[in-house]
Amino acid sequence: MFKVALVGEFHNVGKEYLKNNKINIVETLKYEAEDLKNILSDCDAIGIRTAKLPEEVLSKCKNLKVVARHGVGYDSVDLNYLNQNKIPLAITGSSNAVAVAEHVIAMFLSLSKKILASNQTVTQGQYTKKTMIQNTVELYKKKVLIIGFGRIGKEVAKRLSAFDTEILIYDPFLKDSGIDVKPYTFVDLQTGLKESNFITIHIPLSKDTENFISHKELSLMKSDTILVNTSRGGIVNQHDLLNSLEQGKLLGAGLDVYTVEPPPKDDPILTAPNIILTPHNAALTIECRMRMSLETAKNILSVLENNPNLENIVNKNIL
Ligand SMILES: NC(=O)c1ccc[n+]([C@@H]2O[C@H](COP(=O)([O-])OP(=O)(O)OC[C@H]3O[C@@H](n4cnc5c(N)ncnc54)[C@H](O)[C@@H]3O)[C@@H](O)[C@H]2O)c1
Repeated sequence: MFKVALVGEFHNVGKEYLKNNKINIVETLKYEAEDLKNILSDCDAIGIRTAKLPEEVLSKCKNLKVVARHGVGYDSVDLNYLNQNKIPLAITGSSNAVAVAEHVIAMFLSLSKKILASNQTVTQGQYTKKTMIQNTVELYKKKVLIIGFGRIGKEVAKRLSAFDTEILIYDPFLKDSGIDVKPYTFVDLQTGLKESNFITIHIPLSKDTENFISHKELSLMKSDTILVNTSRGGIVNQHDLLNSLEQGKLLGAGLDVYTVEPPPKDDPILTAPNIILTPHNAALTIECRMRMSLETAKNILSVLENNPNLENIVNKNIL
């Protein structure tokens, strides 16, 4: 009987799927490396939410046949170690794009309509001072730059097309959009940053994309630009973003992800002007948690049964 460790909270649908397939499940909410070394040492597979799996933990797992992320980002797992040991890494490729795309649209609309400030004027008895809320804008006819046109970027584009926006795409690894959304144009990064009114980022965090948006890129943006980052914290330089917001060089920003998570209580980004902050919960709708739990479970079983779903395997070249 295979033994599978689920690290973090998994929705019941995934657990039931594994149990119904005669898998022995071990669950833990412990994330410390010392704890994980013991708990995972004899497991055949690991399902993982946000805990880190560095080499020091993975090297203790002598029976390991697959690591399955409950999500699509995998910067928390030592992929080099898995490659060297020919262990596949699976992600939930078809589960969370829609949930994150809706979160982006929610942030675009909240920021452009200043929903948080408007709410405050009503709850704080300032109803008649509504004209003090200035510079609310529309998405209609605006240019929206999507940086990274993978699963999430495409879902954002589909939803934006209902707002009659003009979509600009920056993704040098693609030749065509792969979807039927028009109008859209592939642009170079500089052009996209200079021309857009709304910008949303959907690239993975790596050494190449760390601080991808810093002072230089922010200074190219127009002062009526709204920037949303739901990808990974290190991709936008938080210090430089704070400066831009404080100096009124951006209309607003939305962050779901942070350089350090959770951000320290005294982090100045928490009190930046014209910002909306969410706790890395873009993909945590009820529906998406169910989909991710089930897809993680299916990914695990498919590898254990020697029938991996290759679309979801990040390092398929090692198989
Ligand atoms: N906030 C959340 O809860 C949440 C949820 C899911 C995913 N994410 C993050 O979103 C990221 C994107 O997810 P996805 O499913 O769309 O990934 P994906 O792999 O389907 O798409 C990523 C796209 O980025 C492009 N890309 C890579 N490097 C680039 C670069 N330097 N410049 C421009 N384009 C580049 C790739 O060509 C690809 O098309 C994930 O890596 C993850 O970190 C966050």
